[in-house]
Amino acid sequence: MEELVKKIEELKRTRNAFILAHNYQLPEVQDVADFVGDSLEMARVATQVDADVIVVAGVRFMAEVAKVLNPDRIVLHPEPASGCPLADHMTPEIIKRFREMYPHAPLVTYVNSTIEAKALSDIIVTSASALKVVSKLDDEIILFGPDKNLAWYVATRTGKTLLAVPPWGHCPIHEYLVSPYYLRKAKEKHPGCKLFVHPESPPESQMMADFVGSTSQMLKAIGEIEASCYILGTEEGLAYRAKKMYPDKDIFPPDSRTVCIDMKKITLDKIARSLETLKPQVKLRKELMEAAREAIERGLELAK
Ligand code: 13P
Repeated sequence: MEELVKKIEELKRTRNAFILAHNYQLPEVQDVADFVGDSLEMARVATQVDADVIVVAGVRFMAEVAKVLNPDRIVLHPEPASGCPLADHMTPEIIKRFREMYPHAPLVTYVNSTIEAKALSDIIVTSASALKVVSKLDDEIILFGPDKNLAWYVATRTGKTLLAVPPWGHCPIHEYLVSPYYLRKAKEKHPGCKLFVHPESPPESQMMADFVGSTSQMLKAIGEIEASCYILGTEEGLAYRAKKMYPDKDIFPPDSRTVCIDMKKITLDKIARSLETLKPQVKLRKELMEAAREAIERGLELAK
């Protein structure tokens, strides 16, 4: 592994490359990255990167956002099969149906969505920005997709009506493994710990939590909410990042099975290979990129 890390460091220099990683990435991938963060931070950093090549260590939609914000740079996604099942719930056909039923409601779309869905949306939000952005809108009825649980989180805090597009959209990890059942088990195993939960988790899980927020909001909250230990109700990669930031605190994922296999498809080996070959590059249709960019930038502006 040491050899591989050295090779990546060397390739980063020769290619003038920047590695942008999500908080759920494998520990060794987080360690080799130039920036690790949540989806909002990744998008913000992507607007400021001054490198010839950007390597995205995250799932496909994260690589697409980086490309949309950097159309003239080389954006590498080391494993194109690293997708997001949540994103796939919101198809253009479903969007069309909801647009027809609610022609006056804006469509606010979670960043965990396909480039096609983003291109058909008015505003793109992340779990860190959704609440702020929706609060700023004048509209009372909002189409929101594809995560029904994030829609519930925003609706209950803003008092607005968020219609989930589609009503069943969910992340399998949060829906089934950050469920009340596993959280109760985790609380039994680690009594006295504060429970933090991602808003992609079911409403019942959110109601059990001491804090609900995006991955980076949870990291920040560990420093603000005093406790002897913490259970982070989300993908287990966040616990690695949290322990690195707070070495004196006990931090646990809810269960050893809370693993997003798509996030874990990005490995050091694949990063090295993609820096060497400059493949696979993210390539998107120009008109899709332009339409998606407008919605992404609107979201980033409203999130300020
Ligand atoms: P964050 O923006 O909170 O990091 O969430 C991204 C994600 O994919 C959650 O499953």
